[in-house]
Amino acid sequence: MCGIIGYIGFRKAPSVLIKCLKRLDYRGYDSAGIGVIDEKLQVFKDVGEIANLEKKVPIDKGTLGIGHTRWATHGKVTKENAHPHVCNNKKIALVHNGIIENFKTLREDLERKGYKFTSQTDTEVIVHLIDESYNGNLEDAVFSALKKIQGSYALAVVHEDEPGKLVGARRESPLVIGIGDNENFLASDIPAILSYTNRAVYLEDGELCSLTAQSISVFDDTKKKIEREETIIDWDIKDAEKSGFPHFMLKEIYEQPNAIYQTLQGRVFEREQSILFPERVEKLLTADFDSIHIVSCGTSFYAGWVGKYLIERLTGIPVIMELASEFRYFGVKKGSSLVIAVTQSGETADTLAAIRAGKNAGCQTLVVSNVIGSTATRIADGFVLTQSGPEVGVAATKTFTSQILVLFLIALKLAVLRNRIGLNEVYKYILELKALPKQLRQVLDRSEEIVEIANRIKGATSVFYIGRGVNYPLSLEGALKLKEISYIHAEGFAAGELKHGPFALLTEDTPVVAIATKDATYAKVLANIGEVQARGPPVIAVADDKDTEIEKHADFVIRFPSNGGLLSCIPIAVILQLLAYHVANLRGCSIDKPRNLAKSVTVE
Ligand code: F6R
Repeated sequence: MCGIIGYIGFRKAPSVLIKCLKRLDYRGYDSAGIGVIDEKLQVFKDVGEIANLEKKVPIDKGTLGIGHTRWATHGKVTKENAHPHVCNNKKIALVHNGIIENFKTLREDLERKGYKFTSQTDTEVIVHLIDESYNGNLEDAVFSALKKIQGSYALAVVHEDEPGKLVGARRESPLVIGIGDNENFLASDIPAILSYTNRAVYLEDGELCSLTAQSISVFDDTKKKIEREETIIDWDIKDAEKSGFPHFMLKEIYEQPNAIYQTLQGRVFEREQSILFPERVEKLLTADFDSIHIVSCGTSFYAGWVGKYLIERLTGIPVIMELASEFRYFGVKKGSSLVIAVTQSGETADTLAAIRAGKNAGCQTLVVSNVIGSTATRIADGFVLTQSGPEVGVAATKTFTSQILVLFLIALKLAVLRNRIGLNEVYKYILELKALPKQLRQVLDRSEEIVEIANRIKGATSVFYIGRGVNYPLSLEGALKLKEISYIHAEGFAAGELKHGPFALLTEDTPVVAIATKDATYAKVLANIGEVQARGPPVIAVADDKDTEIEKHADFVIRFPSNGGLLSCIPIAVILQLLAYHVANLRGCSIDKPRNLAKSVTVE
């Protein structure tokens, strides 16, 4: 949802900005631009990828600048609508992520006062408002401009007459300060600046910051200066690079054995047969709630849904799944529910609103996120990190399996706290957990078999995924992965539901991926596969290694190593990711940056 960057220091700003923007392009990639102060303000922008912009930047001078990669909300994808936007005397440049809700009124007002607009964006009003208030001090001008704005923003601003100053501000859109030696940064996200620094300061809603090469100052919305602690980010820059893989998505799929291992680190203790969370989280889980609401969007919603099955199965606590975009308006019930928000980025606008809605209704809130310091981790009552390292590919993969794992750990902890399981059972589950990295490596070793199957479905116009129980949300996730990166229409169904309508869409050219695990629903799923085959489409079964029957029922079988337990959902998820990846790759799709999508959806 747009990425912004700001730099002040001693390096050549154009090179720094372009390099950082390339690491932010998963947030938007329809156009990009930079503004640099080298005595005069100079702005360069272009439509398309950042590589297009890079070719068109003729200078590598100046040590102060801002940059932007865009995911269009207001105004078409054109060079004029690309950021930075400049004021009429071309001295102030600004980049923005968010949505200015009252921009129409502000624009009319500014136009009446004689300001000339050159774009259709909502953003441009901000730069003119800053110009209108400017009286020799950029921070003051930004403060007064922001008072007139309704909506969300993260922004970075520079003024030609103040070449030693970079100003930033945020409300409901992410912005982090990166601290270096004699240089400082502003960025939407940590991976953008990781090759320069791992020291970060997070801004809270309504705050403004002013950076020089040697100092950072943070102010609250009353202009009072505040002290803010630094956070050290323990991600490695290698984690944010492709390291020889053709796509980030494939690299991140292959990182899963290690991501799973990392997720378990410091939480699962085999000898003590215990699961440990930070004190704040333990307190939340010990509280006396009688239900759980899980709120999230997209892939995180499906991880939450898998979590629902796991929590209900182990604890008996009823879990209500709520799409964050719905919960925030319709789902809040007063009472003793724990709200668990699942969000990789911790910045999804709808999920943040759902957390706030939960808090306002008097519920305790717990966040499962991959990003320390993200807004979600700061506004909730407690958080558990997925610890899977930065995820760059737009399609979530390793964070999906790590989210499921964290929810499983929460389920185990609750089951112990509520005396639903004994230590022997905990030990059994811990052994299952510890076996997962090896099982995932076995799945990854079968990638070539999955390519063969991908070859058979790459020409389909529609693919169905079916499963029962925990395999139902996995079917939804399998279908989401396929549609978002291969552009093939795909849908997931509870296996028993096909005959209630979707069968009407089934033709011989609609491959059906059926997840068949050896649980209580196995015979029913085989019957569902039979119903499908009677209508002609090929069936690809995802089945466990020990299943000797499945070949008789399905046209193709992809096997996963069986742990016979609750956690087979994790190897199955990896199979579905590989299938989607290989189909998209065979179709030559833009896998890491699918059309119309962005990784972090910071607008409603
Ligand atoms: C799909 C995908 C999205 C996200 C969704 C929520 O592969 O990644 O569906 O899951 O936008 O994002 P987070 O988890 O950051 O809240």
